[in-house]
Amino acid sequence: MNRPSDFSAPDGRTANTMPDARSDLWSRVQLAAQQQAGRHLRDQFATDPDRATRMRARSSGIFIDYSKNRLDDADLQLLFDLADASGLRGAIDAMFAGERINSTEHRAVLHTALRAPASADIRVDGHNVVPGVHAEIAHMAGFAEQVRSGQWRGHTGELITNIVNIGIGGSDLGPRLVCDALRPIGHPRLRTHFVANVDAGRLNGLLRQLDRRSTLFVVCSKSFTTQETLTNARSARAWFLQDGAAEANISRHFVAVSTNAEAVTAFGIDPANMFGFWDWVGGRYSLWSAVGLSIMLQVGPAAFGELLAGAHAMDTHFQTAPWSQNLPVLLALLGVWYVNGFGTTTHMVAPYDHGLRQLPGFLQQLDMESNGKQTTRDGQPVGRATGPVVWGASGINGQHAFYQLLHQGSQLVPADFVATLHSPDNTRPHHDIVLANCIAQAQALMMGRTPDEARAEMESEGLSPERIAELLPHRCFAGNRPTNVILLDALSPRTLGALLAMYEHKVFTQGVLWNVNSFDQWGVELGKQLARRIESAFASGLAPAGADSSTCQLIDLARAALAARDDDKPTR
Ligand code: F6P
Repeated sequence: MNRPSDFSAPDGRTANTMPDARSDLWSRVQLAAQQQAGRHLRDQFATDPDRATRMRARSSGIFIDYSKNRLDDADLQLLFDLADASGLRGAIDAMFAGERINSTEHRAVLHTALRAPASADIRVDGHNVVPGVHAEIAHMAGFAEQVRSGQWRGHTGELITNIVNIGIGGSDLGPRLVCDALRPIGHPRLRTHFVANVDAGRLNGLLRQLDRRSTLFVVCSKSFTTQETLTNARSARAWFLQDGAAEANISRHFVAVSTNAEAVTAFGIDPANMFGFWDWVGGRYSLWSAVGLSIMLQVGPAAFGELLAGAHAMDTHFQTAPWSQNLPVLLALLGVWYVNGFGTTTHMVAPYDHGLRQLPGFLQQLDMESNGKQTTRDGQPVGRATGPVVWGASGINGQHAFYQLLHQGSQLVPADFVATLHSPDNTRPHHDIVLANCIAQAQALMMGRTPDEARAEMESEGLSPERIAELLPHRCFAGNRPTNVILLDALSPRTLGALLAMYEHKVFTQGVLWNVNSFDQWGVELGKQLARRIESAFASGLAPAGADSSTCQLIDLARAALAARDDDKPTR
């Protein structure tokens, strides 16, 4: 078995045996980026008419124009060399083959098996996992069809009309995004809701709108130990049991999605109503598993199958396309180029489609929980910058809020603009406006506006020479700000699957280049542990051992406020 740090380079050597070659390439990347710092994209377009047709790639219903990036063909080749020297080819093979590349948790990483066709043979410890995957898809489909057809009803015989997914992180963000994006093709009777925040304001606010007799809860947690999810699920159960429902009725209204059958049973959910998956599926990579049950309930098994098929098409593309045509690899290398060559610290994602407005939140977890690390796979300091802060919001809304900084701020912020050419819910002229703005923003960020252009514009507006002199510095745009424009043929289940898989593989590729394990998340543990101690301190009145004066002061204030409340009433 390959150890994760032994990803093979193309010539059979391992990445680890050639640290000098790799560090030389990293130095050359930095040098090349410095040289680009003095060049303007405007000039590169002016002198290179083929730039846009050369710097584009397409696969699985996705077209990427990456020509508005501050690099040339030689720089790209350097990045491809870095990918080779980092053992990217071997790493891809190792992941798809089910090797235990999640080294700190000794787990395989096989979300790709969740979307493999039934004929595939993917082995973990000699056991083909694909039949189990398809059996679970069939289990989900059987249940989803019952709910959708009206055969599955609440305990009083009411049709199910509302589905509430209770989960957080990977058990929330993926299904939330997909359900939102595919709402136009959702079942007309079913409305899907997502409860992640343990702040009771979310759950109570939603429950006030729902009818117990027609609501189905999907309690979704890989570990089934997550405090927020279990607290919300308990409160939902208490709400359900008000107004006369019996414990025996719970099974008609609560199902679970988890890898932990024991904890599901202990919670009181019938194991017959549990949909399972496997430890080789990471939480943030899990929407393709039973975690996608809410998606399947909303859009049906066939559309869920299309989502999987789109992701599988991207998997095949990632495995087989040369780096120069490989969408995830290109996006990954461009990201590395800015983080390590230009010292950028953030990456913005702007969906230009209302259905994709949850994409930034999904990508935040995918990217930042995967590559927000400073320790290599073999436990050494990485020694260079890794994952950027990923952020963003609907592009159109952002234009009227934070784009000022993108255009004229002091920081360079590389960005992905994601738009759809056919979007079922976007009619004309709305769609015209959305697409025009997406294209224009990328153009404006790249071109900027020179002093001569700004002056000419103000002259045409009839401004006085004094006013022009006063305003000139404010109305110039430096430009040279990089974007990728990512166009989906349509916001369909298939293309959406491909889009999300593309980003998964982008994140993986960057993890390989930075030599971090993209599949663990130890960084979330400390805060969880301290929160439990602080919660005990609220009850006991005793400060946690060793707590600093700031923390103690805050605990005292919070404790006093909580004690002044009478909050023991059940949720209503
Ligand atoms: O705390 C972080 C995390 O473990 C994520 O990695 C995960 O997606 C989320 O919490 C929810 O975990 P679970 O599905 O086990 O409830």
